[in-house]
Amino acid sequence: MSYNPVQNKASKTFERTLTYDLYTDPKVFELEQEFIFSKSWQLVGHVSQLEKNGAFFTTEVAGEPIIVTRGMDGEIRAFYNVCPHRATKLEKKESGQKKILQCGYHGWTFHLDGQLNKAPNFSGEDAACISDRCLRGVRMEIMQSFIFVNLDDDAKPLSESYGDFFSRLDKYPFLGELKRINSKTRVIKANWKAFIDNYLECDHCYVAHPSFVSTLDMKNYQIITCDNYSVQGTVVKPDKQMGTVDLNEAEMQGGEFFWLWPNLMMTIYPGPGNIATIQMIPIDHETTLGVYTYYFRDENLTQEEKDLVAFAEQVRQEDVELVELEQVGFRSRAFNKGVYSQSEKGIVQFHDMVLEALGK
Ligand code: FES
Ligand SMILES: [Fe+2]
Repeated sequence: MSYNPVQNKASKTFERTLTYDLYTDPKVFELEQEFIFSKSWQLVGHVSQLEKNGAFFTTEVAGEPIIVTRGMDGEIRAFYNVCPHRATKLEKKESGQKKILQCGYHGWTFHLDGQLNKAPNFSGEDAACISDRCLRGVRMEIMQSFIFVNLDDDAKPLSESYGDFFSRLDKYPFLGELKRINSKTRVIKANWKAFIDNYLECDHCYVAHPSFVSTLDMKNYQIITCDNYSVQGTVVKPDKQMGTVDLNEAEMQGGEFFWLWPNLMMTIYPGPGNIATIQMIPIDHETTLGVYTYYFRDENLTQEEKDLVAFAEQVRQEDVELVELEQVGFRSRAFNKGVYSQSEKGIVQFHDMVLEALGK
């Protein structure tokens, strides 16, 4: 395996974690929106959501309304979902297919490439004056069929932001065949960072995830910190191969669990071609929207695929309970900081990045 490890000050191991006021302070949430979520690449969707020309979906990034469209020319573009006449949120639907977008306030219409079509309350010379009032574009890049946007016009390109991460995915050639099959959300009563901390170590797996440790070879479990991302993984125990169908070589590879700064996790389990994304989107300083999305080849899941989803959901349920209990303790006067073990260097990397982003 070749990785591009960064020195993440692993000598900090055994030092103390972030102070827990960073998990309970509403002012920190505001700083994070500005300095973390408005400046990092955020996953917003997958090309399988925009198969036909005219298809669109809407979303939010750091509180900003966003629309992603496939124009009549076949190009995928992203815009702020805000009418340039007087700011009304333009498209209300979550997804759909249209030839033209129309604002519900004064009826301005826009092409899917963002150009103004008609402004009914402007005519003659007035219409000429506002003809350049187009939808404002937002930085967008597509890697491995995943669509990302970044609100920061000066951000490094996505393709350069995560070291060799996207080329690492080349060893899974099935990724290009997958479709976004379903997405579920869950409101979690904990700070978003608590869930990332939980994901970035597997010391808790022995205690909290009996099905996980009985399936995977934990003796060979590795956590490797890389450039703005980390990867953990191992192989399935020889007597526990998942599924019975013929799998190609890539599908036989062990599970890999990626984290990408700041709040995206991508998991690939051994078994039929699959990937799942987990996003932790802060709602406020103590509440997080977990978005769990599964990608498979076909929406009619096979039994193996259904088993895999059930397995992943079991592990997730166990983790959500833990981080909600942790949030109770974050608020307690009994505790201000935790400690890292030797095998928690993924958390050390994450905490270093949080502190740097917040200028602390
Ligand atoms: S605010 Fe959109 S048309 Fe007036
Ligand atoms: Fe866990």
